[in-house]
Parts: sequence; C-alpha cells; structure tokens
Amino acid sequence: MSLFPSESAPLQASPAALRALIESRRAVRRFKPEPVPDAVIRDCLELAMLAPSSCNLQSWSFQVIRDPALLAQLHPVCMGQNAARAPLIIAVLARPDTWRQACQQIIEQWPEPEVPARIRHFYSKTAPFQYNQGLLGLRGLFKRQLVRLLALRKALMRTPNSHAQMRVWAVKSTALAAQNLMLALQSHGYATCPMEGFDEVRLRKVLDIPRRAIPIMLLAVGRQDDKGVYNPRLRFPLEQQVSWL
Ligand SMILES: Cc1cc2nc3c(=O)[nH]c(=O)nc-3n(C[C@H](O)[C@H](O)[C@H](O)COP(=O)(O)O)c2cc1C
Repeated sequence: MSLFPSESAPLQASPAALRALIESRRAVRRFKPEPVPDAVIRDCLELAMLAPSSCNLQSWSFQVIRDPALLAQLHPVCMGQNAARAPLIIAVLARPDTWRQACQQIIEQWPEPEVPARIRHFYSKTAPFQYNQGLLGLRGLFKRQLVRLLALRKALMRTPNSHAQMRVWAVKSTALAAQNLMLALQSHGYATCPMEGFDEVRLRKVLDIPRRAIPIMLLAVGRQDDKGVYNPRLRFPLEQQVSWL
C-alpha cells in the first residue's frame, strides 16, 4: 500500500467502528513489559504522518525509543511517573525549524511528472515569505507591521510572524499527528499515555533533540496491564464546550 496515495475515493468509515476506537483509548499508566513489534510501530507512524499539516509542511518528527538502557534513563526525566516505565516511548517533536527544507522537498518530490506553476510559486515564494522570521525575529517584526497596514483593506493571515508564533504553528500540526499515532496504536491493541510531565532540559541531555525542535509529548506505549487506567472517564457536557451558530 502506498504511504501517500494521491487519489482515493472518499471512504465511508464506519461511524460505529471509529467511535468504538476513540472511546476505547484511555490514558494508561501501567504496561506489560512485552515489546511492541517494529512493524506495528512503523504502521502507526505512517498513519501519524497522514495527519493534516499546515501547508503540508509536516512540521513534526518522532524518536522511537526501544533501547532498555535509554528507557531507564527516561524514567527519572519523566519525574519517576509510572507511565514512563513503558516498553516503548515515542518522543513527538514539533519542528518549527524544518519548513525551508520541507518547501524544497515538496517541489523535488511532487508526485506528478510536472510541478504545477502555482505549487512551485507557493513553495518557492509565498511560504518562505510567510515562515521566514529572520535573524532575531526582525523580519517577523517587519511583517507584523506590514500585515497590520495591508489588513486595513482586506482580510489577511496575521500569523505566524514571530519565532514564538512559529512554535505554535508547528505544535498545532504535530498534535494532530500525535493523536493519529495514539489511535493507530490503539487499533493494534496497544495502549498509550501522552506525557508532558518531563524535564525538558534533562530530556535534551538524554535524547539527541535538535536545538529548535520542541518535544511536545512523550508517548508511553505498550500492552495495558491490570489497573492500567487510574480514573473513570470524565468529560464536561457538550453544551458547555460547544456553541452552535
Ligand atoms: C498534552 C498532554 C499531556 C499529558 N501529560 C500526562 C502526564 O505527564 N502524565 C500522565 O499520567 N498523563 C498525562 N496526560 C494524560 C491526561 O491526564 C489524560 O489524557 C486525561 O486525564 C484524560 O484521560 P483519558 O485520556 O483517559 O480520557 C496528558 C495528556 C495530554 C493530552
């Protein structure tokens, strides 16, 4: 099966099957030691990477940690929390720093014989203008003022025009990939726990994380053990969280 099929008929997934999968996912904090097969990890990462991303720039990367010695080092980095005793941890990284290479790659790897002119223009001109914030964010500062003026006349996107906004930009798409990853693992019968409870400074000493990458969560993965779910599910009422306009 192709990783990125270019054309596929709209698929009517079974709402009941999707609901059952989503409902069955819980944050699990106790895992059996049984390892997760590489083939399963790879399949789930492929599905993670089918998540939508801003301008299709795929601003994410993943580190798959299976090595017991490295996992043992991660446990204290996660402040000793139980979920971090899993047989597999996947570090999910947001990448505000890879857009330039991604723009080039989209042009180079365009899945048709000819790169359409609008695509070439977008990824060689528009996107670099949008995402390049310049040294110390000075270009971004200039763009913020420019956008403020131009937007007096027509609707314009106001972000990302700073390095901080670039981080939010990358995190949005990466979080979608993380959710795909958790559901894919769930479909294979593996439980997960997303963890942001870790010491980022220590994490960067244990894992080789590129300087501008943002570790948004560590995903603990494994077969659920007894009493793996600590609490009953609690969600706020739909009407409280949703407005219908
Ligand atoms: C961004 C994020 C960070 C989280 N960090 C932790 C964590 O460090 N440790 C933990 O045990 N659970 C963590 N969780 C799991 C949440 O506590 C859990 O998803 C929430 O209580 C709802 O439970 P449910 O996922 O079983 O529905 C995190 C969840 C998210 C989305």
